[in-house]
Amino acid sequence: MLEDVTRLDHPIDVMVLIHKAFHALSLHVEELAAESQEGGDLKEFESAFGFWVKQLLFHAETEDKYMTGPLEDSQPARDNESEHDELREKGTELVEFIGKGDTAGLEEHVRAAMLALEDQEHQQLLENANDVEEILKKEMGEQRVVARTRRHLYRRVMGMRILEFDHFENEEAFVCSIVRDRMSEKQQLDIARRLLIDETAADPRWIIDWVAEELEPRERKLLAELEARFARLAPAVD
Ligand SMILES: [Fe+2]
Ligand SMILES: [Fe+2]
Repeated sequence: MLEDVTRLDHPIDVMVLIHKAFHALSLHVEELAAESQEGGDLKEFESAFGFWVKQLLFHAETEDKYMTGPLEDSQPARDNESEHDELREKGTELVEFIGKGDTAGLEEHVRAAMLALEDQEHQQLLENANDVEEILKKEMGEQRVVARTRRHLYRRVMGMRILEFDHFENEEAFVCSIVRDRMSEKQQLDIARRLLIDETAADPRWIIDWVAEELEPRERKLLAELEARFARLAPAVD
């Protein structure tokens, strides 16, 4: 469990609150992936996973542009950007995996096993995903195919969640400290606003409202106090 945040000494400290919301959301997605191993459809998982990826993409892009982008000559800033790339890559792989449906995990596994056999006929058959699905269902039964794919799905979601948690720790330890040292309160407030409010969206509050929901009442109050300070900033131009 993460500790409760009791004060925000600098505007950038709101990062810990935002990361806290991500903790809760990604653990929820992971739980749904774990439960999916028992069967049932993936609707609830897919919608929670989609929301997680949407939040994460916006968060990482905004940080690259407005937080680490201006930190020239900073290795921790560059490392942070590389970690974002890694997260995006993992997310894309997962989206592709989910898109393949319930035979995805198996297809990968069987393809490797079949290739090892070097059996020309099998290899040709495996070139078509539908064939693979048919072969597998016939050989193993549909339920086992689904069960195996769900295990792989769970493992991949957990992998992404672990990568994300490591990233948050690194960012809080190595990047936020530089931001505190090198950027003015006003600059930090501007970054915080861009991370929490999306002026380009039909509902600009889709981030801050979600973060608030995931927090303890006292932390929610800190977030609201910070938001009140945004009013004094000039409007975000781009
Ligand atoms: Fe962050
Ligand atoms: Fe980040």
